[in-house]
Formats: sequence, structure tokens, C-alpha cells
Amino acid sequence: MRILGIETSCDETAAAVVEKDEGGNFKVLSNVVSSSLPIHQRTGGIIPENAARKQIEYIIPVIQKALEDAGLIKLPNSEFTSSNSNNNKTFSVSPSTIYQLPTPDVDAIAVTVGPGLIGSLLVGVETAKTLATLWNKKLIPVNHLLAHIYANWISQRDTEMKTPKIPQFPAIALVVSGGHTDLVYMKDHNDIEYLGGTRDDAAGEAFDKTARILGLPYPGGPSISKSADEFLNNLSKDNDDSLTLFPRPMINDDSYDFSFSGLKTAVLNHVKSDVPHVTLGQLSAEIQESIVDVIVKKSVKALKEYRVNTFLLSGGVSANSRLVRIFTTTFLNEKMKINFHVPEPKYCTDNGAAIAVAGFFSDDTGDVSSISATPQLSIMGL
Ligand code: KG4
Ligand code: ZN
Repeated sequence: MRILGIETSCDETAAAVVEKDEGGNFKVLSNVVSSSLPIHQRTGGIIPENAARKQIEYIIPVIQKALEDAGLIKLPNSEFTSSNSNNNKTFSVSPSTIYQLPTPDVDAIAVTVGPGLIGSLLVGVETAKTLATLWNKKLIPVNHLLAHIYANWISQRDTEMKTPKIPQFPAIALVVSGGHTDLVYMKDHNDIEYLGGTRDDAAGEAFDKTARILGLPYPGGPSISKSADEFLNNLSKDNDDSLTLFPRPMINDDSYDFSFSGLKTAVLNHVKSDVPHVTLGQLSAEIQESIVDVIVKKSVKALKEYRVNTFLLSGGVSANSRLVRIFTTTFLNEKMKINFHVPEPKYCTDNGAAIAVAGFFSDDTGDVSSISATPQLSIMGL
């Protein structure tokens, strides 16, 4: 069985074809991601209108390329060229070719319906509805946050934790992305209990906003991580618990909620103050450590309280290697036998393959006309 996954919730336009074999394993036949990132770097963050305009430009070329890479169609030559300056790939295709795309051999189309930016979401949802109607395929609406979790069924990073390939339930799952920080208890597919989430800024947002204060480029996560790594590489192992400059908001709080906006204020106050400033590398490492410490502490608390030994980490922030390392060392130091799943970095950030895989597990097969973009969708589907 094969699914075409389409993702357009924010600034990435992504499409992928994923196949499931009889043993239940997923094979990614193609995975195309086109990002409007260079435009947002110029404005220091995402302006929704700009992101939506780029979605319109990229959506058909990206779908066409995903189908071609999967060997399902051949690209026709055309009159219009859209070039993606982010990854130097050039797509040759006309926007009008949506009606000329031959029907590919896929069983269904899965599309992100929310949460996300309304303008961006609409492009993916309306395109998917059009293609599903044209090609007479089933259309599966996908919750973007669940899709982040399902990236763990595609691939996983090596973490020293001897984790089996396919995640087992029950599990504690944490999504840490640019817009969301959600901790859930998954008893099974489609059987999820909400534990907590951020009360203000998301973890990725905390990276993005503090990077901006430090003058580092957008997106802040990779920028801070790179600057922090340079500092940490020169720090002796005995000293890496000395990163205590900034607060760990709500770390000892009884709830599973998070709060990261105070960190942003603390960083701003430090930068504006008369106290001797530490280096950019140390500031980056201090910020990263504050965010990582809170995330790890709350997740470990949930694993212990729910007596669960599968942990699924996901979302853009899970691309952070320090976060993955601190999780691993904490599990090992505390002698917790955890099956620790975290996707390869390319499946942590937004991509179409995760949407397709989430589509395989969805029990939602709404008819095409009832599917619509839902910007405020929560991880619980509300
Ligand atoms: O999941 P994602 O691609 O998009 C959303 O659904 O929001 O996450 C994007 C977020 C951004 O805030 C970005 O700064 C953060 O993920 N991010 C990282 C890293 N790579 C991306 N944060 C920390 N370390 C990274 N290496
Ligand atoms: Zn995302």
C-alpha cells in the first residue's frame, strides 16, 4: 500500500510517497521538501502572507517531483520554471499541469489539515482535495502534531539505548516544534491522553526568539545549537553541568506544563545589563541547556509516573543533538531501561513522509468535501 503525503502547514512545502510492506515496515520512496526559509531569514521570522505565497508557487512542482522520484510518473517539459534557492533544486513545471498530472499508483493522499498558518494550510488542503477528486483517491486528513510523532515509525537515530525498530505502546510522546510543546501518554494509536504543554512560547519559539536577541540567524534552533556546540567542544566534561546562568521555568512544578517566555526575558535582561557579558558561544550553550533541562526533567517524570518504557521524541527541536544526548545520559545515569525513539534529523523537521505514515495509522476517512484547513487544531484533535 502506498500513500502520497502532503505538508504545507508553515514555511515548508513538502510531499513524499511512502510504501508499507506486508511486514508493516515503511519505505520512503521519495521525500521532497522545498522551503521558503531564505525569505524569512531576510525578515528575521515568518510573515504568514509571504509563506503562503511561496506555498502556491511550490506546491505542484513539489508534488510532481515526489511522484517522479518515487518512479510513479515522468516529468513533462513545460513552459514555466520555479527555482528553489534553498536547496538548489530546480523544478521545471507549469502550475497548470495539475490537470495534466497522470494518475499515480497510490492508494491514498494524506494531507496536513492543522495546526498551522491558515494561508499555508489552505494551499495543501485544497490541492490535495483537487487531486483526490481528479484521481479518485481516498483523502486522509492528518494532524501535523501526530505526524511529528509518527516520524518515529520511519527511521530512528542511534542513541546507545538499544531501542527496537518499531515503537511499542504504551508510550510517552513529546512534540517539541516551532509552534508547539506537547507531552502525551499514548496507550495505542488513536488512544491518547494529554499530559501538558506550553503555557506561552513553544520550545522552538524560545530558540528562535532568543537567537534573535543574540543576533543569530533564523531559525534560531540550528543557529544556537551550532554556536553552543563550538563552546561545548572546548569545555571539559566536568564543567558541562556549570551552565546555570538562565532560569529553568516550571522545572519543579507539579504539572506537565512548560513555560519558556521567562527565558527570553532573562536573556534580554542579561544582554542589556551592565554585568560582564559572557561569550556568544556560552550564551548559546546556556540558553540551550535551560530549554533541554526542562524538557528532559518533565519527560522523565512522565515516564516514571506512568511506568512506561517507550519514549517518542519528535518535532524540529528534537533535531538538537544536545537534547538527545542529555536524554540518553539521564536514562543511563538513572538506570531507566527506556526504548528511546528519535527520528533522523531530516524527519524531525516538517516533511511529507511523516504525514504519509500518520495517514496509514489514521482511522479518519472523511469524505473530501468535509475536510478543511483547521489552523487551531490541537494534538487531541480539537
Ligand atoms: O517541527 P518544525 O520543523 O516546524 C513546526 O512544526 O514548528 O520545527 C521548527 C522549529 C524551529 O523553531 C527551529 O528553531 C527548531 O524547530 N529547530 C531546532 C533545531 N532544528 C530546528 N531547535 C533546536 N535545535 C535544532 N537543531
Ligand atoms: Zn512541524
